[in-house]
Amino acid sequence: MLQIFSISNRRYLGNKYKLLQWIRKIVDENCVDIHSFFDVFSGTGSVSSAFLDKRLVVCDMMKSNYLAALCWFSPEKIDREKLMAILEYYNTLDTSHENNYFSENFSDTYFDKATCQKIGFIRDDIERLYQEKNVNEREYGCIITSLFYAMDRISHTCGHYDSFIRDGRYSGTLEMRMPDNDYCLNPNNVILCADSNLIADQEEVDVAYLDPPYNSRQYCDAYHLLENIAMWEKPEVYGVARKMDRTKMKSRYCKSDDAALALGELVQKLKCRYILFSYNNNGKKLQCRSNAKLTDEEIVEILSTRGDVTVFSTEHRGFDAGKSEFNKDNAERLFLCNVRR
Ligand SMILES: C[S@@+](CC[C@H](N)C(=O)[O-])C[C@H]1O[C@@H](n2cnc3c(N)ncnc32)[C@H](O)[C@@H]1O
Repeated sequence: MLQIFSISNRRYLGNKYKLLQWIRKIVDENCVDIHSFFDVFSGTGSVSSAFLDKRLVVCDMMKSNYLAALCWFSPEKIDREKLMAILEYYNTLDTSHENNYFSENFSDTYFDKATCQKIGFIRDDIERLYQEKNVNEREYGCIITSLFYAMDRISHTCGHYDSFIRDGRYSGTLEMRMPDNDYCLNPNNVILCADSNLIADQEEVDVAYLDPPYNSRQYCDAYHLLENIAMWEKPEVYGVARKMDRTKMKSRYCKSDDAALALGELVQKLKCRYILFSYNNNGKKLQCRSNAKLTDEEIVEILSTRGDVTVFSTEHRGFDAGKSEFNKDNAERLFLCNVRR
C-alpha cells in the first residue's frame, strides 16, 4: 500500500512550516480583499500551501523547487491511479544490476550504492516517460518530488548536501510515496522557474510575499544534488561533496554587496497592493556566513519607497540542523508594506 507525503515532510533551510498560521493571520487581519498571492522565493512552497484558496503565482530560481511547485500547485489535471501505479512499480523494482550516472558518481556518499542504483534508474525512467508523453508536466513534477522526499528521508546528511556523514552507516530504504495534493486549486495558478528580479512585473497580484535567502549560504550549494537530479543533464561532478558547476546558479541575495540592490530593484518592479517580507536576522550586517545580508533599517528603507511599513515579530527557532540553542535575536519578522496607489 502506497504511503502519502505532505509538503512539510522535507528538510529545507529557511522553510516556513512553523510560521504558516502566523503568516496567514497577519494577511487575514491586515490586508483587505485578497484574491491572489505571489510566493516570490517559494523554496518548498510551504507558504503558498497556506493560501490554496487564492490564485497563486509561485516562483523559485531552482528547478528542483519549480518541479515541487508543479506537484503542489499546478492546475494541470493528474491521473492519480496512473501515478500510483508508477510509484508502486518503482518501489518493487530490483535495480541491483543497474549502473547509471547516479550510481557511478554518488555511490557511498549521501546514499549507499544500492540506493544510488535505484535513484539513477528511477530518474532515467521518469525522463523517458515524460519524453514519450506518457506523463504530463505536473505528473512529471509529482514523481520527481516524490523522489526528492524519498531521498530526504534517508540521506546520510544533516539535511542538506554540502557534505555527508562519513561513517558508512547507511540505513533506510528509498520509498516512493504519493503526494498529498488532492485538493482544489485555482485554474489560473502560475508556476515559474526564474530569477525573481527578472519576472517580478509579469503578474499583477494582491500580495507579494518575499522570503529571500538571508545569508551567504547559496541554496544551489546546499541542494546541488537535488538540482542535479531536477535538471538531469548529467554534468561532471567534483570534490568530496560531488558538486557540479554552479557558477550560473548563484543568488544575488546571498551577496553582501548586492542583496540590498537586488531587493530595491525587485520592490520597484512588483505589481501588487501589499508586499509582505519575511526575514530572520540579528539586525547587524556582519561578514560571517550565517549572518544576514540586509539590516532591518535597509529593509524598511527599501519597502518604504512603495508605501507605509508595519513590522510584526514572533519567536522562531529556524532549521539549523538542530545544533544551536534558541537565540532571542533569531526572532522571525514580517514587514508589511501597504503599497501606495
Ligand atoms: C528562504 S528560502 C524560501 C523558503 C520558503 N519560503 C519555504 O518555506 O520553503 C529562499 C529561496 O529563494 C530562492 N532564491 C534565491 N535567490 C532567488 C532569486 N533571485 N530568484 C528566485 N528565487 C531565488 C532559493 O532557491 C530558495 O529556495
